[in-house]
Amino acid sequence: MNKIRAAITSVGHYVPDTVLSNSDLEKMVDTNDDWITTRTGIKERRILDNGEPISFMAVEAINMLLGRRGIKADEIDLILVGTVTPDMLFPSTACIIQEKIGASKAWGFDVLAACSGFIFTFMAGVQFIESGACKKVLVVGADKMSSITNYKDRNTCILFGDGAGAVLLEPSEDQNYGVIDSVMHVDGTGGQYLYMKAGGSLNPSSHETVDKDWHYVYQEGRKVFKDAVVGMADISYEIMERNNLKSEDVAYLVPHQANLRILTACADRMGLPQEKVMINIDRYGNTTAATIPLCLSEYWQEGKIKKGDNLILSSFGAGYTWGAILVRWAY
Ligand code: UT7
Repeated sequence: MNKIRAAITSVGHYVPDTVLSNSDLEKMVDTNDDWITTRTGIKERRILDNGEPISFMAVEAINMLLGRRGIKADEIDLILVGTVTPDMLFPSTACIIQEKIGASKAWGFDVLAACSGFIFTFMAGVQFIESGACKKVLVVGADKMSSITNYKDRNTCILFGDGAGAVLLEPSEDQNYGVIDSVMHVDGTGGQYLYMKAGGSLNPSSHETVDKDWHYVYQEGRKVFKDAVVGMADISYEIMERNNLKSEDVAYLVPHQANLRILTACADRMGLPQEKVMINIDRYGNTTAATIPLCLSEYWQEGKIKKGDNLILSSFGAGYTWGAILVRWAY
């Protein structure tokens, strides 16, 4: 019996209008445009400043996706949301989105895998298609990083922004298209280098946790950088090798946008020129779970992705979590 393959059949994205530029940050912390640009590749990021939560951005991205596919929300079977900044700890943002879009038949849940949030959530969705349990799965990556960023900490506040992206997974009519392979990892020994200490059962939010800034992202940047370079490059190369792909066979690397230098190192290891790397970190910074679907939706919108293209989705982040997925574009 032929295996059911899961294919991406639509994409959508949303970013807020408000721009936070490097020169804006120069007025907030001791930094400068030249340092941020050369060390990270980021020029500006978007900030959701209207008091709205991530479900607001997710709904915008989903509406774009549904419109492009020409279907209604009540055709969706399952909603999966990757995020570290849910509207609330519970109910899950998947439930909030279900109600907002009127996905009357759908069930769903949230997945917490930080910067690998999208690819982990995506692989969860793939299982529901491949098993035959679902026909239409929405996979959302959305984060409002501005809600957990300390704008007095120059080590982290220059990196993050807000945004959302979504993809639709459906069974592929043709075995040659869709999700071909994946390699996923976690290593909890990396947890000590990138985390948010308060708000969970270990350190419930209190005056004390707020006084100590434990409600913000903490990162040992240099350590995470080194591990990310090795982890992302190794896994992206591994997925090429085990699928007998040469650099000319790969249309795009679709990397998590954490730092331009990490993306470049990963592409170098894969033998890919810069034009084969999807990049929008200059405009959006690190939007955590949203980076990869944001790239996919923008590049698709610009007509840059064609049917049959081999894409390698790849990320590394808190946990540590990391992974790579080979997708052959289906439409
Ligand atoms: O997405 C999840 C995974 N996250 C990542 O992959 C992020 C990984 N880390 C990074 O992207 C980089 O480590 C950073 C961009 C966060 C930092 O870049 P770096 O090249 O690793 O810099 P560094 O932390 O080694 O700091 C170099 C210098 C230090 O000064 P001294 O000690 O050399 O005098 C820092 O104090 O740069 C200083 N510095 C800054 N200077 C101006 C740190 N942040 C800033 C800043 N502006 N914003």
